[in-house]
Amino acid sequence: IINTWSDLSPCHAHLRERAESVKRGVLMAGGLPFELPALSLGEVIVKPTSMLYRNLLAMEVEELLRSHPVDGVVLLAGCDKTTPGTVMGAISMGLPTIFCAAGPMLNDRYLKAGEPERKVGAGTHTRLFWDEHQAGKVSEAEWIELEAHMTRSPGTCNTMGTASTMTSIVEALGLALPGSTSIPAMDAAHTRMATTCGERIVQMVWDDLTPSSILTRGAFLNAVAVQMALGGSTNAAVHIIALARRAGVDLTIDHLDAIGREVPVLANLFPSGDRLMEDFHYAGGLPALMSRIRAHLFLDQRNVNGQTLEHNLEGVQVLDDAVIRPLNNPVSANGALAVLRGNLAPDGAVMKA
Ligand code: FES
Repeated sequence: IINTWSDLSPCHAHLRERAESVKRGVLMAGGLPFELPALSLGEVIVKPTSMLYRNLLAMEVEELLRSHPVDGVVLLAGCDKTTPGTVMGAISMGLPTIFCAAGPMLNDRYLKAGEPERKVGAGTHTRLFWDEHQAGKVSEAEWIELEAHMTRSPGTCNTMGTASTMTSIVEALGLALPGSTSIPAMDAAHTRMATTCGERIVQMVWDDLTPSSILTRGAFLNAVAVQMALGGSTNAAVHIIALARRAGVDLTIDHLDAIGREVPVLANLFPSGDRLMEDFHYAGGLPALMSRIRAHLFLDQRNVNGQTLEHNLEGVQVLDDAVIRPLNNPVSANGALAVLRGNLAPDGAVMKA
């Protein structure tokens, strides 16, 4: 178990407890669990920027797995750079790998006399309210109160920022159990999911189900389609290409551009929409979203649960059309990203559409 827990990483604050759940699952399946701590990169804490350390984490994970007697790995991560960092390291090492996402923090709401109730999350809202604070529209006392609402529990930022985009991409690639990455960090289902990851990795070791047998070209094209349907973060463009290169798959921003022109944004989540990750989970999570865009997906791709995507999407339904919109009423008809080229960016630039 690679654990990115740290006292200075609020999104990973619960991962020591979750590691115990994973261990229970490993033991139940007849394996022997060991926990290996790895560099934690809390996005809002690490200076000057966590991006400088993503590849350091990837190297650390790869070498932790190479230098110890390990047969398979459960990755406990979820922040913007810990997800791609741990997965990149695990891809390079090539042992059976399952990703156990930290899960999004709980939603909150902000009530102010005389004003309509506002749903409040982290990330996008933090910047929004900080701007209002700078403009004098939100007082110091109100800003301090809002801080408590914006970070209501352990877990990753609950907007469709980089953290949620990356954990969703890893699930779409097939490296996380179906529907697992949107489970709120503080939900009892999250503990059960961590235990299931522990049980599953033992069988994956017996089956020698390695990342190379899951991370095909089709898996990456599925992940890009999901990124577009989610209205995912522009930062994910950097990480998904890095992941693809680790896996030996040719993927460029031109592929992102082409798929973005085909796949509409269906997830009504901040910042493209007005809901948060908890809402997305109750609407059916990623399997529900993928069922809506199945015409754009390679359904023969495998998941760490040993099944094909086609099998995993059988009977899956969207439970709330307001959160995961139907194809005839998208949040945006085009994908989340646009790729531009010109004298300012000859090699290309990626923008939110
Ligand atoms: Fe870690 Fe946002 S700061 S997920």
